Amino acid sequence: MRYSLSIVAVSALAVEALPSNENFQKRLPNGLGKTPALGWNSWNQGGCDAATAEVALRTAQSFIDLGLKDLGYTYVNIDDCWSTMSRNSAGELVPDPNKFPNGMKAVADEIHSMGLKFGLYGDAGIKTCAGYPGSEGHEEQDAKQLAEWNVDYWKHDNCFTPCQGPVVQTCPNPDGHTKTWYVKMRDALQQSGRPIFYSLCNWGRDSVWTWGAEVGNSWRMSVDNWGNWADVVRIASEAAPIAEYSAPGGWNDLDMLIVGNGKLTPAEERTHFGIWAIAKSPLFIGTDVTRMSDELLKVLKNKALIDINQDSLGKAATTFTPSGAAGPVTGQLYPYWAGELSDGVVVALVAPNGAQTYSVNFSDVPGLGEGSFEWTELYSGRTGSGSSVSADLEQHGIAIFKVTK
Ligand code: GAL
Repeated sequence: MRYSLSIVAVSALAVEALPSNENFQKRLPNGLGKTPALGWNSWNQGGCDAATAEVALRTAQSFIDLGLKDLGYTYVNIDDCWSTMSRNSAGELVPDPNKFPNGMKAVADEIHSMGLKFGLYGDAGIKTCAGYPGSEGHEEQDAKQLAEWNVDYWKHDNCFTPCQGPVVQTCPNPDGHTKTWYVKMRDALQQSGRPIFYSLCNWGRDSVWTWGAEVGNSWRMSVDNWGNWADVVRIASEAAPIAEYSAPGGWNDLDMLIVGNGKLTPAEERTHFGIWAIAKSPLFIGTDVTRMSDELLKVLKNKALIDINQDSLGKAATTFTPSGAAGPVTGQLYPYWAGELSDGVVVALVAPNGAQTYSVNFSDVPGLGEGSFEWTELYSGRTGSGSSVSADLEQHGIAIFKVTK
């Protein structure tokens, strides 16, 4: 069952002052998130139904069998609906015995024995979005519990949080700044005695990108990726102007991938994965990895793209405007993207409206300039050199070039 939310869309993403070096130094000092997290999350695969030990362990095994682990996919994360509907008499969260018959630690330990990591989901308010117990008022107790279970990653959602008026699933008039409740769980996790990746899920509220890095290792910068092309367009368009806030230790989280769920064309899936990868988003597969087509697997296993996502420089690609071209429009997908790498520049061309040929002069690309460059297109393997590059793109298609001197 897919649970749907009616979250008020984050309107006009007014970009506030870009982070100063001083702010970058304030990044959460838990040693995690040096590069964006790679893994799988149960939610887009099957909502509440996929939040089971069986699914988690099957997925972990597939990470090994399919070679995903070797490429860096590490986190196996269970989302909403893993607990019982109420805490026990000691006030503790209890794994649903039907879904986790051997408890949570057994699952975490087994996943660790496979050389992978295990993540769980919770909420800053009194209930999770699907109505299970939230962590409000229980932060320290829950963080200690997670450490005891050997959990490696915690996604903290924003439902049923303090509200002016009745506490509701997605409060239109929050009683306080979101940061207030996200800091509580940060401090509890920091004191838990275990380094736990802290993933903020406040749907981009309160311009989370301006303060997320001192609170967590990644932050959702928009409302959910519901699974349609329109969501890919919306999220990419909102991510471009805030690219600068991503850096080692803390990342704009464009939300989990929806590739493999029959909602996008193959070209759209390549574009979705490609933009998420170059924008340095965490990459969480949200489909049943045991049933992926060879074509999809090829996308998710594109080593060159994963290497770009995991590049040590940690600079998120954003849009650039070639001379003579119209600039980006909020809410629309822009054709020209680029980002600096530790060993070159990534340039992407996207066809937002129908099949089209796009070209770019390298002299227009930030980080490049006049002269001749070598390039490789990362989906086709096509290579070349010169002062420009072009691509014949199908509707919603993408070409992604790694460009070097
Ligand atoms: C939403 C969140 C989704 C998913 C869902 C679970 O608030 O953005 O990613 O976790 O809750 O109920």
